[in-house]
Amino acid sequence: MHASTDLWPDLDCLDPFASPDRVDPVLQEFLHRASDQLCQWIGAASEGLPLPTVRPQPEVAPTAAGLGMDQLLKDLQLVMEGAYQPSHPGALAHLDPPPLTASIAADLICAGLNNNLLAEELSPGLSDLEQRLCKWFCQRLGLPEQSGGVLASGGTISNLIGLVVARTHAEARDGVVLCSRDAHVSLQKASTVMGLPDEALLRLPVDSSGCLSLAGLDSTMSDLRRAGRCCLAVVATAGTTVRGAVDPLDAIARICRREEVWLHVDAAIGGVFSLWKPLAPLMEGLHQADSITVNPQKLLGITKTSSMLLLRDRSHLRKAFATGLPYMESPCGDDHGGEVGLQGTRPAEVLKLWLGLRQLGIEGIGAVLESALERKAMLKQLLEDERLLLLDGGLHLLAFRPRQDDPAVSARWTEQARRQLMRQGFLLSRPRYDGHHWLKVVLGNPHTTSAHLMQLAFLIKQQLTD
Ligand SMILES: Cc1ncc(COP(=O)(O)O)c(C=O)c1O
Repeated sequence: MHASTDLWPDLDCLDPFASPDRVDPVLQEFLHRASDQLCQWIGAASEGLPLPTVRPQPEVAPTAAGLGMDQLLKDLQLVMEGAYQPSHPGALAHLDPPPLTASIAADLICAGLNNNLLAEELSPGLSDLEQRLCKWFCQRLGLPEQSGGVLASGGTISNLIGLVVARTHAEARDGVVLCSRDAHVSLQKASTVMGLPDEALLRLPVDSSGCLSLAGLDSTMSDLRRAGRCCLAVVATAGTTVRGAVDPLDAIARICRREEVWLHVDAAIGGVFSLWKPLAPLMEGLHQADSITVNPQKLLGITKTSSMLLLRDRSHLRKAFATGLPYMESPCGDDHGGEVGLQGTRPAEVLKLWLGLRQLGIEGIGAVLESALERKAMLKQLLEDERLLLLDGGLHLLAFRPRQDDPAVSARWTEQARRQLMRQGFLLSRPRYDGHHWLKVVLGNPHTTSAHLMQLAFLIKQQLTD
């Protein structure tokens, strides 16, 4: 069976669909040149700034006749020039580290394979790989034999899936979800999507370290029980978004067991620390959760998106999401991917996660995690200053602001300082937290050296005196 070759006769000879009959040298050239451009872009990262100063506006609409190789590469170049540059050593604002090289290659292969994780017959090997990799994560985190998981396009979706599963398990339509005041906004979205009223998400106080207050949780749960109200789930956070605080997972798990309530841990930021034994104590108690969100995209450099929901008992996913998928053959393996999660058609995001982890190895994972914590410790020490208030939740995030208790001062200072730092090649973020604006540094960028941190601390202190 041979394919027609004359549908698109003259687009620099680059066929829109690669020939199934021969290796196409023009496609090879196209991919080589596109990857060359990417390598140039990454390799020149430290010459520019984390955020581009120009924002080119490529033509949006397709032309009538379509484009050939040269013009397509020019279009791509324009997009690169306007892109955020995560490989710049001063890119320290968010949980968006530089991409792992193996993940870049895997993403390209993923696009070329164009498999669909919806169903086994559309992704036989990759469906299997996903289940096996989730299982590996579960084992590493200390979950029991019947555990397993599913990949999702981001932590927001993983949290939503976790809460839907919790509600199915509770066999209730309505009820409340408890989390800390500092839990991620995605829980608000999950609650909305689930059709829960605004007041169903109860945000409880945190202690001075930014961790969910156990006394608050305990008394709220007793109150709910007395009032006969259903608690669908407690959500603990392992790594809060602004300060990287880890809720007391072990104690929360004990309360949840006592009250027979589902424990979901949003470990989008902190979960990966469980993969490296010397740092696993940071996540103590995580293995007792019923469901766990982990986002390897946030620190390990797996290209976006890379998130997963892990279940203590994987069969809960099927109970919550299986439809019978009537237009597919039954799977030979466990379940179709589309039957154990919210998403239907889904790319094989497992590929870049799997290959990225294979590239790093366990020791490489450890090195990424350890070095991020070391950078945080160093910057924290450099910033110790009576004029600054520092927030450190124990992971690789650090937030700070002027000590004066005047929100107008912190708003003005953080805005000015952020602008100045950006000019010097340091991109920090400026979250609002506890009634103030803060500057936040995420120290997950492996290209940030001690010299960069010393320069950053110097510039920050200079802003305090100006
Ligand atoms: C603690 C936490 N959970 C969940 C999320 C949502 O993850 P995503 O942006 O991948 O949807 C974030 C994002 O920053 C987060 O910090």
